[in-house]
Amino acid sequence: MTIRVAVNGIGTVGKRVAHAVTLQKDMKLVAICTRSPSPVIRTVLEPNGPLYGTDLYASDKEHLKMMKDAGMIVNGTLEDMLGRGDIDVIVDCTPGGVGEKNKPIYEKFKLKQIYEGGEKASVADVSFTAVANYEKALNVNSVRVVSCNTTSLVRTLWTIDTNFGVKEAFAALARRAADPPEDKKGPINAIVPSLSVPSHHAPDVQTVLPHLKIMSLAVVVPTTLAHVHMVEVTLKKKVSREKVLEAFNEATRILLFKGKEGYSSTASIIEKFRDLCRPRYDMYEVGVWEETVDVKGNKLYWIHMVHQESIIIPENIDAIRAITGEETDKWKSIEKTNKSLGILK
Ligand SMILES: NC(=O)c1ccc[n+]([C@@H]2O[C@H](COP(=O)([O-])OP(=O)(O)OC[C@H]3O[C@@H](n4cnc5c(N)ncnc54)[C@H](OP(=O)(O)O)[C@@H]3O)[C@@H](O)[C@H]2O)c1
Repeated sequence: MTIRVAVNGIGTVGKRVAHAVTLQKDMKLVAICTRSPSPVIRTVLEPNGPLYGTDLYASDKEHLKMMKDAGMIVNGTLEDMLGRGDIDVIVDCTPGGVGEKNKPIYEKFKLKQIYEGGEKASVADVSFTAVANYEKALNVNSVRVVSCNTTSLVRTLWTIDTNFGVKEAFAALARRAADPPEDKKGPINAIVPSLSVPSHHAPDVQTVLPHLKIMSLAVVVPTTLAHVHMVEVTLKKKVSREKVLEAFNEATRILLFKGKEGYSSTASIIEKFRDLCRPRYDMYEVGVWEETVDVKGNKLYWIHMVHQESIIIPENIDAIRAITGEETDKWKSIEKTNKSLGILK
């Protein structure tokens, strides 16, 4: 069966999810909805844009008028879209908190729902990262794809935990201040600590890996390209550095980068994805700096980077397959998604 998908909220994440849906052999992008005639929606619907020809809807009557007044062809409101009768899954990519407000409307139309990491965990039946808990999302009504930071921590920690056993973990996060197009956000000359201890990331990891003991601290830094995490793991048993590198090498959606080969910063790694001609230089994989992977006694250390705008895109695609039960095998879904997005392993 072809899974019929609609996306609500066409910003940083929504435009990527919608585009990724169009690349799946087993999915169809039926419609999209957004709030205003932003440059993003105008561009993606241009004749050469990735969503050209997709039916467009507006969040409500007021915004429908606004978009029509701006010269856009709009088919109706969110409710009109949801009432079409040809949608199996709605992916809500609106800003954090809006998804929760939209939930009763989705439920009225009895649609399967996918939410993003800006929503509270309570919005959905399952918080999701494909490798860790695909099976838990099979045939449920709603899934929350956890945030970019959480996705990277779950992928790496799940890999170490399943291979060697994690007693406890600590992550220090340097978070990007804004996404590249956001010209009204900062800081531009400050480092801003998260004042809650733990930062919200450790409890968020536990929404996917409830058994994992983890603590996190976070600061926001003036950069737009990526987040960087410094991770310390107390292992249940001693392992060699080589075994850890092997485990990361074998894991899906985790790449090892050598600083000595020139991949010495977030900038030089992002440049690789520009040169690979990935759409929008998207980097769906977690990038671990090989030299930083080290073992001292029963402690394991590494530093990794997260392309915040795109790391969660493959997870959204896998979540769509899981929630509909159309693919019950986690690895088959991951393989299909990886192939469609050009993820090599
Ligand atoms: N950005 C990231 O790096 C990132 C990474 C992982 C997860 N997430 C999560 O993904 C979700 C979306 O974030 P984002 O960064 O994509 O946000 P974004 O760039 O601000 O995009 C949100 C889009 O939703 C539209 N919108 C706002 N209210 C709406 C409504 N009531 N109905 C329909 N559309 C509405 C916005 O329209 P306007 O054009 O009018 O503003 C905008 O186009 C959040 O939960 C966020 O936490 C974000």
